[in-house]
Amino acid sequence: MKILGIESSCDETAAAVVEDGRNVLSNVVATQIKEHIVYGGVVPEIASRMHTQAICKVVEKALADAGTTFEGIDAIAVTYAPGLIGALLVGVNYAKGLSMSTGKPLVPVHHLRSHIASNYITHRKLEPPFLCLVVSGGHSHIVEVKSYTDFSIIGATCDDAAGECMDKAARALGLDYPGGVNLDRVSLEGDAGRYKFPHPKVDGSEYDFSFSGLKTSAVNLIHNSAQKGESIDVADFGASYISAVVRCLCENTEKAAVNFGYNKIVLAGGVSANTRLRSEMGEVCGSHGWELYMPELKYCGDNGAMVGAQGYYEYLSGNTASLSLNAYATMPIDEVRK
Ligand code: KG4
Ligand code: ZN
Repeated sequence: MKILGIESSCDETAAAVVEDGRNVLSNVVATQIKEHIVYGGVVPEIASRMHTQAICKVVEKALADAGTTFEGIDAIAVTYAPGLIGALLVGVNYAKGLSMSTGKPLVPVHHLRSHIASNYITHRKLEPPFLCLVVSGGHSHIVEVKSYTDFSIIGATCDDAAGECMDKAARALGLDYPGGVNLDRVSLEGDAGRYKFPHPKVDGSEYDFSFSGLKTSAVNLIHNSAQKGESIDVADFGASYISAVVRCLCENTEKAAVNFGYNKIVLAGGVSANTRLRSEMGEVCGSHGWELYMPELKYCGDNGAMVGAQGYYEYLSGNTASLSLNAYATMPIDEVRK
């Protein structure tokens, strides 16, 4: 079964054709980085406009690269939540128009579910149940993936997401958007012990995260140094900071896996591309003898293939939508709205 997956929740216009949830026949991503770089972050209105301009060409290329046409597609899957509302609406309305004109079923896909599904295309034999750490620009969740469409949140951030925390510190350091990627790159050779950051814990919840204090301490350290005329070693600072964020992510995931009895750990979301997170989670899993699954780097960020993959499982579970489908800026991963 071939699913056309469409993604427009943030700053990538993406489409892909995926066969049976696992086999990527095409994957086209039009990134808007160049448009947002001057503003140091994503400008929602510009994102929506760029999606509108790109979406037809991106979908046409995804079909052509897969050697097919609309006739060869069995269903149209689209990201409908969560994300920037104006950006989501472009993909949702385009998919609704396609569904109406082709008669193909419309499948609504939750963005974080699709990030998790990026692992199904990287690891063809991976099946739920497993424990997943989903870390993106807007979310940081520890999720029990009980089946392809049954999720239970064990832990979440009380304030900022891990990706946002990386982006803000990178910006304060003067690195270009997208900050997390650039912070990762410059910190590879840095000394992670050089700068000290707090290790935030959330009272009464051993699986939840709190990153805002960590972010503020980084920004303050950078500003205080500037006021004193002292320079910051960007590589050491980046390595120390990322290490502090990663320690929180790994520690809580490890606790959740032990207490909930999981020996299969999965990473997902844009931050799962982070070099230190991948290696430290590898060490944690290695020390327990657990299996660790991570998306191939090209599927860590937003893409259409992960939407096509999750769309397949949503379709099999009977989750199709009518043409009254709406987009939603926020929605828990365990919810379905039509
Ligand atoms: O999943 P994603 O592409 O979009 C959202 O759904 O939010 O995640 C984007 C986030 C951004 O905050 C970006 O800085 C972060 O993922 N990110 C990284 C890396 N690559 C992307 N953070 C740290 N290290 C990376 N290599
Ligand atoms: Zn994302």
